[in-house]
Amino acid sequence: MITSFQLVDFKNFADETLRAGPFTVIVGANASGKSNIRDAFRFLHGIGRGYTLAEIIGGKYGAGGQVEWAPIRGAASELIRFGQSGFFLRVDLRLDGITAQYSIGVLYDGGSRSGFRVTVEELVFWSRCIYTSYPDEPDPVRDQDDDAHLLLRMEKTGEQRKYGHRIAVRPDQPALTQIREHKNVVRTHKDYVQLVIDTLAGIRFLDPMPDLMRKPAFPGQTVLGDNGENLPTVLQEICANPERGAVFYEWARELTPMDVANFDFPRDPITGLVQLVIGETNERKVSAYSASDGTLRFLAMLAALLGEHPTLHDRHVARLYVFEEIDNGIHPSRLRLLLDLIEGQTAKGGIQVITTTHSPDLLAMIGDDTFNNTSVVCRLPDTDDAVIRSVCELPDSEKLRHSQGLGRLHASGWMEDALVFTGEDEERVE
Ligand SMILES: Nc1ncnc2c1ncn2[C@@H]1O[C@H](COP(=O)(O)OP(=O)(O)O)[C@@H](O)[C@H]1O
Ligand SMILES: [Mg+2]
Repeated sequence: MITSFQLVDFKNFADETLRAGPFTVIVGANASGKSNIRDAFRFLHGIGRGYTLAEIIGGKYGAGGQVEWAPIRGAASELIRFGQSGFFLRVDLRLDGITAQYSIGVLYDGGSRSGFRVTVEELVFWSRCIYTSYPDEPDPVRDQDDDAHLLLRMEKTGEQRKYGHRIAVRPDQPALTQIREHKNVVRTHKDYVQLVIDTLAGIRFLDPMPDLMRKPAFPGQTVLGDNGENLPTVLQEICANPERGAVFYEWARELTPMDVANFDFPRDPITGLVQLVIGETNERKVSAYSASDGTLRFLAMLAALLGEHPTLHDRHVARLYVFEEIDNGIHPSRLRLLLDLIEGQTAKGGIQVITTTHSPDLLAMIGDDTFNNTSVVCRLPDTDDAVIRSVCELPDSEKLRHSQGLGRLHASGWMEDALVFTGEDEERVE
């Protein structure tokens, strides 16, 4: 599980930290920076996938020109806070009971060959440094051929807490995904490195687009796309497992507005693609083409929440889902059920969910644990920078939540007001 995420000079954050729990809710006005946090998570995910910085930021395309990885939103140099030349991200993780910290600093040098390069990077497990960029030389070192490399100090295994040897890696790609192949890195360190890679590579993003969910899917595609692609085959796989299928049907019947009796997954005899057909209790069959947007969104979320979450290397590492505007297109009367599902599933520990929302109805219903992991993103007046604050730390938030309800507080703009007010207070104290 990711327990906190620090963003320094990333988009509109000067130096802010998001605290995260099993289920984390992010609120904030339009253009406050909520999706910028998602973009930062995509950067982490891109690292886990083993891409170079240029690929993570600018996108990666297959041999046929198909998009393997979409670029991060915004022009390349816009990932960095305006007026700065680089950004820094640090993530705290709890992996199978072990705490770890991974951090990376990236510099954009428009003139150089690669554009982006890693300047600092570090991986720490249980306060033991696995590797760190060479402290005396924080910037990549260039040799005669103009091939820069980042020097890393590896920790020695065993009782000695001293650094072992140093190794060089290319600065155009995070060291994390380079040193697992390195001959001078010991096995135990490689295992730690792999655990972090898998955690980052396991992050999933869901921003459902009903039109894409309506499309038939290739048989065997069991990974739900970021926009809900492959919904038919993902649901087919869930339904094929009796236990999972039963839970899925139960939730689908509760959540979807019409009476779902069953799902069919007919295969087109010509194209071989799998179609989703929803059977209603009145025996009518509705293909995904004519299913409502709301129904499809629900199904995508169910697919994400109830799908298989294979444990990584037999370790209990929660898979992180980053949802955009979870309430979008969903009737308030169904929100409660959706919330129950997410709070229940995340409490079990197999998955972690971070979502944005604009819905006062949803905020009014969240449980105490979720409240403790709700953050507000807000642009302070007279600056372009945004801050991230835990709502439970705003003065009197607990009391006001009980007297007025968090939904009302949110709708009235109280969170932002409280934040600006305390911000001014702090400045005065200084
Ligand atoms: N490199 C940057 N430096 C400073 N601010 C930025 C940068 N890139 C984007 N922004 C700010 O972030 C805003 C968009 O934030 P976004 O996360 O999309 O908002 P929302 O909270 O609605 O999801 C832009 O309007 C812009 O003001
Ligand atoms: Mg947004």
